[in-house]
Amino acid sequence: MPRRALVTGVTGQDGSYLTEQLLARGYEVHGVIRRSSSFNTERLDHLYRDPHEESTRLRLHHGDICDSGRMAKLLYELQPHEMYHLAAQSHVRVSFDIPEYTLDATGLGTIRLLESIRKVGVETRFYQASSSEMYGATPPPQREDSPFHPRSPYGVAKVAAFWTAVNYRESYGMFCCNGIMFNHESPRRGETFVTRKITRALARVYAGLQEKLYLGNLDARRDWGYTPDYTDAMWQMLQHDDPGDFVIATGESHSVREFLDLAARHLGLDWESFVEIDERYFRPAEVHDLCGDASKARRELGWKPTVTFEDLVRMMVEADVDLLEDELAGRTVRLTS
Ligand code: NAP
Ligand code: GDD
Repeated sequence: MPRRALVTGVTGQDGSYLTEQLLARGYEVHGVIRRSSSFNTERLDHLYRDPHEESTRLRLHHGDICDSGRMAKLLYELQPHEMYHLAAQSHVRVSFDIPEYTLDATGLGTIRLLESIRKVGVETRFYQASSSEMYGATPPPQREDSPFHPRSPYGVAKVAAFWTAVNYRESYGMFCCNGIMFNHESPRRGETFVTRKITRALARVYAGLQEKLYLGNLDARRDWGYTPDYTDAMWQMLQHDDPGDFVIATGESHSVREFLDLAARHLGLDWESFVEIDERYFRPAEVHDLCGDASKARRELGWKPTVTFEDLVRMMVEADVDLLEDELAGRTVRLTS
């Protein structure tokens, strides 16, 4: 019998890469998707097969992490061996606009799932998508024992979820792991996160379709890695003998300005002639500098990043140029990288 994994947030950036990797490892993957008025499975389309085909190992189920009854039913019916909880309102700037919903989905969502697992009595290993945003104002390098000082409703919600996972591990002996993931990016990154916003806009400026790009704080520094390395770390944590909490990061930080500069140079563009600062993209409180120390993951999981900052920027720029060319030519787009 194949191992069964239940993945929340399966339609997101991380969910799509994780699903690809789990299927390649022989898993049966069950993904939770929200009902939407238009298709929201674009990142999974290349993996999806007609459910009538018996060999299909990817199944999608409607659900919402704000609906504990539904999540408990899915857990009972599917009895997953492993559960990857990736679903969240994941946008930091947006969390200032919708703090209550963010606390509900991103914070309470974890309690709902862990309480359902406990009450239903499912034997499963649980992965919590924790975030470097929890460190907030704490200066780098940030490690597992660095204090949390969140600077956004999103960060506060993730701290609550982090401690919930620790608490269920300590109280009930459940196999819960926190991946304290620093920023990770890819051609599938959501279009409103700064890296993808930049690479997508540059492709359009390069093609003569866009004149201006409005950004916020160019001085913020982030530790940016390549997403498939990070989703692989999620799986590795759940295969470890003992549950634990792990920082996953490259150990290198760069400013938004550096990302922009490198991406623009790759296309021979002078960004200073078309980038403008719009205060709308500033945050009421900023996280200025994130740079993680992933020594524990390297030591205990043998994990290390495989893609450099320069290669990541180049890959994202080229993917957006190709995507735009495909769109303009009316070709069907296939996600590959
Ligand atoms: P993402 O692309 O924004 O994906 C978020 C996923 O959550 C989507 O599938 C979304 O569904 C789903 N979702 C949101 N609210 C939901 C709800 N109420 N019920 C069910 N599903 C819901 O995020 P990501 O970059 O893949 O990140 C995955 C997880 O890692 C998130 O928890 C994020 O906070 C965390 N994280 C990410 C990073 C990073 O750099 N990417 C770093 C640290 C931690 P729709 O498609 O329907 O919107
Ligand atoms: N989104 C955005 N848009 N950010 C901008 C912009 C802009 O126009 N201009 C400058 N920035 C700056 C932000 O102020 C922030 O300092 C930095 O770029 C990165 O912003 P995001 O790409 O939105 O990511 P984030 O670091 O806030 O959050 C991401 O990483 C977290 C891990 O540290 C998200 O993926 C979170 O879900 C994740 O937990």
